[in-house]
Amino acid sequence: MIVCSCNVLSDTQVRETCSAQSGPRTTIEVYRCLGCSPQCGRCARTIRAIMDEALGRACGACSVDCPATKLPPAE
Ligand code: FES
Repeated sequence: MIVCSCNVLSDTQVRETCSAQSGPRTTIEVYRCLGCSPQCGRCARTIRAIMDEALGRACGACSVDCPATKLPPAE
C-alpha cells in the first residue's frame, strides 16, 4: 500500500528500511534512506507508526537488560 503519495513510498519499503540493522530512527532518515525527502508531510504520522511497529517487534531481542522493554507501549 502506498503510504506517501508525494514520493510513492509503500509500507513495505518503509518496513524493510526500518528492519535494516543500522536503519533509520527518525522519519526524516526514512525518507533519506529511500532516496527522497518529505514534501507535504501528510504521511509522517503513518511512517512513524510503521517505524514504531517495526522497531517494536525488534525490541526485546537484545541479550542485555534493556530499560526500553520496561516502558509502556506507545500510543
Ligand atoms: S504524502 Fe508523503 S510527503 Fe506528501
